[in-house]
Amino acid sequence: MTSPELLLSLESSCDETAAAVIHRDRRVLSSIVATQHELHERFGGVVPEIASRAHVDRILPVIDEALRIADVKLSDIGVIAVATQPGLVGSLLVGLTAAKTLSLALDVPLVAVNHVWAHLYACRMAAGPDIFPAVGFVVSGGHTHLFDCRSPVELTLLGATLDDAAGEAFDKVAQVLGLDYPGGPLLEKLAAQGNPQAIHFPRTFLNEDRLQFSFSGLKTAVLYAARGTPGSREAPIPLTPARKADLAAGFQAAAVEVLVGKCEQALSQTGHRTLCVGGGVAANGVFRQRLTEMAERRGIRLVIAPKELCTDNAAMGALGWELYERNQFAPLDCDVLPGLMR
Ligand code: KG4
Ligand code: ZN
Repeated sequence: MTSPELLLSLESSCDETAAAVIHRDRRVLSSIVATQHELHERFGGVVPEIASRAHVDRILPVIDEALRIADVKLSDIGVIAVATQPGLVGSLLVGLTAAKTLSLALDVPLVAVNHVWAHLYACRMAAGPDIFPAVGFVVSGGHTHLFDCRSPVELTLLGATLDDAAGEAFDKVAQVLGLDYPGGPLLEKLAAQGNPQAIHFPRTFLNEDRLQFSFSGLKTAVLYAARGTPGSREAPIPLTPARKADLAAGFQAAAVEVLVGKCEQALSQTGHRTLCVGGGVAANGVFRQRLTEMAERRGIRLVIAPKELCTDNAAMGALGWELYERNQFAPLDCDVLPGLMR
């Protein structure tokens, strides 16, 4: 058998249905993402049953489009990669079922990609293969996870959030401020009009050595600042547009300071000289700016995933090539692993 040149990557772990065709040299020939934001918006968050049904409707058109844009035929595909963990169980199953069917029908190998690791592989896609060893930081709607990355497929969890993920906190605070879902990008826009110093919010665990995060206290602090503290006799400060912008800016400053501070601690503790950052929140301009300043100050190499590879996509499933090259194939009876990584 000749060595395969093209990999088809599928991603359906949450509320994006995505497919990409990636050459073995890691060139992305196509990357199609169908978002479902319009379906979940009125609920203020992802509804799993709606998400999985939408994946069923969209997965085949998305695959077709990925093949069309790449200008290749299904029979040209030599490897199928699919995100099997972590995520919503019904959503993951749609991608995995499509992937298994293609693997069987085309008689090509299947590889099972860890979605969180793939968020860091987005950094490798942008910066080349020599970024390891590194501290890897995935900051998304579901994860706030720090890793010691010895290679693209040898990651050890250093620490994570004890409650909300950072992106989840952005989304919930955005909801309190009356913004649509997903709130992160809209909150960033609102924060740009506010004063980050006007209202001080807690920086949980920032001055402690442990590589852990907690955003639920920060989220509640913003809620009380916006609506008043329960049981308090004082009327809440009116939620004018200017006050909303200050709350958004104050929240963002607190969240970003903790995220960057914990990266510094992870760099100190591991001794690594490279930091890779991926996941939806890594699209945030203030976060990117603070990371850049920190990296310059410490003289370390910083690789932040390009914005289009921060939020969920299938191009980062190019990680599947690393599994293929190590003969780490998935059997056709492999299952999804929806649970959070601890
Ligand atoms: O990586 P992703 O697409 O999905 C998960 O795997 O969770 O991340 C989505 C998260 C959402 O919580 C969204 O609000 C957040 O990333 N996000 C942002 C920004 N863009 C996306 N948060 C803050 N600022 C942004 N510009
Ligand atoms: Zn993700």
